[in-house]
Amino acid sequence: MTARFFDLEAMGLRLLEESRSRAVTLQRQGIVPCLALVEVGDDPQSATYVTRKIEDCKKVGIDVRKVVLPQSVTQSALLAQVQMLDADNAVSGILVQLPLPSHLDEGAVIQAISPHKDVDGLHPVNLLSLTTSEPSVIPCTVRGIDALLSETGFIRDGARVAILGRGKLVGLPASLLLSGQSRNTTITILHRKSKNLRDILKNSDIIIAAAGSAHLVTPDMVGAGAVVIDVGMRWPEGTLRGDVHPDVAEVAGWMTPPDRSFGVMTRMMLLKTVLDLVEKKGAA
Ligand code: GUN
Repeated sequence: MTARFFDLEAMGLRLLEESRSRAVTLQRQGIVPCLALVEVGDDPQSATYVTRKIEDCKKVGIDVRKVVLPQSVTQSALLAQVQMLDADNAVSGILVQLPLPSHLDEGAVIQAISPHKDVDGLHPVNLLSLTTSEPSVIPCTVRGIDALLSETGFIRDGARVAILGRGKLVGLPASLLLSGQSRNTTITILHRKSKNLRDILKNSDIIIAAAGSAHLVTPDMVGAGAVVIDVGMRWPEGTLRGDVHPDVAEVAGWMTPPDRSFGVMTRMMLLKTVLDLVEKKGAA
């Protein structure tokens, strides 16, 4: 078997156009969506991500409020900034770029954002809603994964899904959404201490790799025809490496292009979520 590759770039362009037209409709009603982006410190990777998000917002007509705070910012100063944005009626959604420097409490910062302004979907209220029949805000990368899985029609009651990694941005929320009442699949979360990794992966209909461990998933670990989604990224020797070895294409049914960033899907879903929050506010 040779896998079919998801065309992330084409999907990204389609999603960009959809968001552009939704933003135009809102602007005609005199509503200007606005995303607040909070960046702490000078991590080059985070700065790149934030810059791309700003460019995307500009392309579709979403205003951006960018706040940059120094690496040494205190927890209380950061919380005060987030609370100010949260109270500002002109701000539709807030994203605090993660990871934060280690002296800061990420959980407390996320909880300072009201659930209806939490574009990341990481507030405990939003996370819990992922398990229900009506998830409220789906974290952007997970929303991208979910969109690909719906495209292939692979989300079926009881489908066996293995998730590699249990991080708060992908592994954890993906497990809540996909095992929840809206998606009804059966999840196994795998991590560094898991036993029988190979057997569990091999017997899965869907593999979501979010471990950040270069080429961890090899062809002998994947069942014929499985759907494999790779959101892991590492740069050993300066070259992007996903969690999934390119040779997995020999056995998988569908997969994301090997050693390529999933970023376009995450970024496009961010735009979609900002617009959802604005529209929900208008409807409330
Ligand atoms: N850092 C890397 N990805 C993300 C994301 O999706 N949201 C936030 N807030 N920070 C990130």
